[in-house]
Amino acid sequence: MDSEMKSFFETAPPLKERDIISEKLKQFIQNDDTNRRRVVCVTSGGTTVPLEQRCVRYIDNFSSGYRGAASTEYFVKAGYAVIFLYRRGTCQPYSRSLPDNAFLECFEFTHESNIQVRETYSEAVKTAIRDHHAAVERGVLLKLPFTTIFEYLQILQMIAVTTRSLGPHAMFYLAAAVSDFYVPWESMVEHKIQSASGPLDIRLVQVPKMLSVLRKKWAPMAFFISFKLETDIKILLEKADMARKKYEMHAVVANELLTRKEEVVVVTENEKISVHRDKSQAGSDVENPLIELLVGRHSAYIKDSNT
Ligand code: PMT
Repeated sequence: MDSEMKSFFETAPPLKERDIISEKLKQFIQNDDTNRRRVVCVTSGGTTVPLEQRCVRYIDNFSSGYRGAASTEYFVKAGYAVIFLYRRGTCQPYSRSLPDNAFLECFEFTHESNIQVRETYSEAVKTAIRDHHAAVERGVLLKLPFTTIFEYLQILQMIAVTTRSLGPHAMFYLAAAVSDFYVPWESMVEHKIQSASGPLDIRLVQVPKMLSVLRKKWAPMAFFISFKLETDIKILLEKADMARKKYEMHAVVANELLTRKEEVVVVTENEKISVHRDKSQAGSDVENPLIELLVGRHSAYIKDSNT
């Protein structure tokens, strides 16, 4: 492990539920005694960077978690077991079609003072509850929440190490928007920063890129998909390809901020494949054809690894 990464982990505040998370992960992986089940870790939403140890303020980013939540549903449909590593409060699998404040919007009182689902949401609520419960009960969906960059990287490391035994059957689909800069824990003030002290001067240091160590050390046999987001389409594909080479990713999904729900480009060693949402179908997602494509590539990778 390089020294920046080592120092990040040594100085990060310890994960509160480390033992519980570790047990959940072990049980989830052991759920299949053939060790032939495919498991994908889908990361989703954005990490925060706290500015105070007793955190009142933090730096955040735009990610809604839609990509991760939608992709999780399609992976489950394709027969994968999914570890959904998500930012608390972001979009969840199976409830994407419900309104924001679903609890208050979808239910109403009856004359007998019971609570029932409103007619307009009846189908959506039934489908969401049925599919979500089915996935959890079948042991194919494990949801692990994070908020800060410290929690995210520590849990990701635990997932990588636990899934190592699955070899090429494990996949990492890294759709989370991970902070590039942070305040190291030991140089962070303990108490709320006082506005009376005048303009704020904070030094942010670079978050070590964990893609290299994840790919080469933590889970060297797994199949890796990372994402590249840019707002300038002119540099997107070039940067995606640079990231693919630098971190030895099996594919990089390139997306532009404003069109990310309509199309993405999958950049592999030999191809740049444009993937679009099916516009002729209302409510269709770009994640549907995207996951179909990646599942095919993962199958080929498993086959190659076994020969
Ligand atoms: O959540 P939505 O609103 O649906 O939006 C989806 C999305 C746009 C967030 C998603 O499709 C996406 O592009 N996610 C990656 C965004 C991002 O952080 O891009 P990047 O260029 O900063 O990072 C590229 C890759 O490096 C990412 O896979 C990231 O996990 C990884 N990274 C980033 C920083 C860091 N310190 N270490 C990393 O390994």
